[in-house]
Amino acid sequence: MAENQTRTNDRFTLIDERDGKRYQRPLLHGTLGPPAIDIRNFYGEAGVLTYDPGFTSTASCKSAITFIDGEEGVLLYRGYPIQELATQSDYMEVCYLLLYGELPSPEEKAEFVNDIKRHTLIHDQLMHFFRGFTRAAHPMAIMVGVVGALSAFYHEDTDIYDPEQRMLAAYRIIAKMPTIGAYAYRYTIGRPFVYPRNDFSYAENLLYMTFSVPSEEYRPDPVLVRALDRILILHADHEQNASTSTVRLAGSSGANPFACISAGIASLWGPAHGGANEAVLKMLMEIGDKRRIPEYIARAKDKNDPFRLMGFGHRVYKNYDPRAAIMRETCYEVLEALGHEDDPLLELAMELEKVALQDEYFIERKLYPNVDFYTGIVLRAMGFPTRMFTVLFAIGRTVGWVAHWKEMISDPESKIGRPRQLYVGAPQRPFVPMEKRPAPGHRTWSRFWGGGEK
Ligand code: CMC
Repeated sequence: MAENQTRTNDRFTLIDERDGKRYQRPLLHGTLGPPAIDIRNFYGEAGVLTYDPGFTSTASCKSAITFIDGEEGVLLYRGYPIQELATQSDYMEVCYLLLYGELPSPEEKAEFVNDIKRHTLIHDQLMHFFRGFTRAAHPMAIMVGVVGALSAFYHEDTDIYDPEQRMLAAYRIIAKMPTIGAYAYRYTIGRPFVYPRNDFSYAENLLYMTFSVPSEEYRPDPVLVRALDRILILHADHEQNASTSTVRLAGSSGANPFACISAGIASLWGPAHGGANEAVLKMLMEIGDKRRIPEYIARAKDKNDPFRLMGFGHRVYKNYDPRAAIMRETCYEVLEALGHEDDPLLELAMELEKVALQDEYFIERKLYPNVDFYTGIVLRAMGFPTRMFTVLFAIGRTVGWVAHWKEMISDPESKIGRPRQLYVGAPQRPFVPMEKRPAPGHRTWSRFWGGGEK
């Protein structure tokens, strides 16, 4: 539950214009951000539902983990600005902060890091799951399957109502994600799996398990380790985004936490969410040349063309995504360290950003680069193939998913997530026997699957 008690002394009145009836509802105030009208049981009282597809104006829960001010471009984890965490902290510390609400003391941090390291190995039996996939499988497909399969290994002994077991499940999943992610990649390129090294940091170990070759000494470049650690920090949490809401919704039924995280991974994969980092790089490679930018900007603006400028726009940010600003800087650092300062893709991305930010369409709609815009360029320079980008997002986001899952399970106000709907289908009608049904006529497949009349 929210650590800071919400104030409820203000009221908001809703008036039913059909009969003039007034409904006073409490206005809930959090620590920061807009207040929320408490409409719990409004249906019971007024007999009407609220309608908000995409939840653009709905606070689905109280949360004390992350705060975003989209107008100002502010992102806080447990009150700490993302810029300060990205430059002065490290991923393990941020994990502790997200889970426990406070920055750790040196002793707490050492114990936490050590506890996580004790769980980096995956069960030998789980290795066989990888072999069930084709080598051409997308690593995110493997992640969905293998992380979901973890639930089979830790089901009977995971009592989610026991705080200690919740903690154990959380540590296990945070520790095993880099191992599973690295193996998903190695499997697709036919390289043998490499066991985690617990003398390495979280990010170092991820690079090691991904790129090392058996029998060759491998020590990742500290600049790359730092950059990856920063990427993980930037992706660690983002309040009630699609994948986190998916984890909360799946978990609200009391489901196995590993299965819930797998549901989150599935939601993250889409190009409107975490899959955008992969889509940005593909888009930049497709544009290929600065001279083609106007053509792609025109396509992004054309309502008859499904193309969108990937890495641009955000549901909450109506200003520069603070994570994108940090990623832009990291991009320079990494490319310089690798001697790729004049990477044509970076030049292209910067020009695209410049053109879009001067275009009336993007200005009017407050569409700015988001975190995914520059991430792909950094990850590509580090040697990650495009298909691994969303896997890295998933690894970083796991702590956020777990922190929200834990917050939800331990919140006495939380209930099974069960939205209602505005039914627009056929009214009740009698069954029609086969011989009396009309010929199909215009009822072609495309009408049902969204292709319009054909
Ligand atoms: N390119 C062109 N037009 C856009 C874009 C874009 N990238 N994003 C939004 N718009 C337009 C959209 O067509 C709409 O125009 P109109 O008002 O004329 O109909 C307006 O801007 C508002 O867009 P929306 O789709 O109603 O906004 P949303 O909040 O539902 O969508 C978004 C947010 C992130 C899904 C969307 O901006 C998008 O598809 N961006 C590209 C994908 C992307 O980069 N996703 C990563 C998000 S950040 C990382 C993460 O959270 O995973």
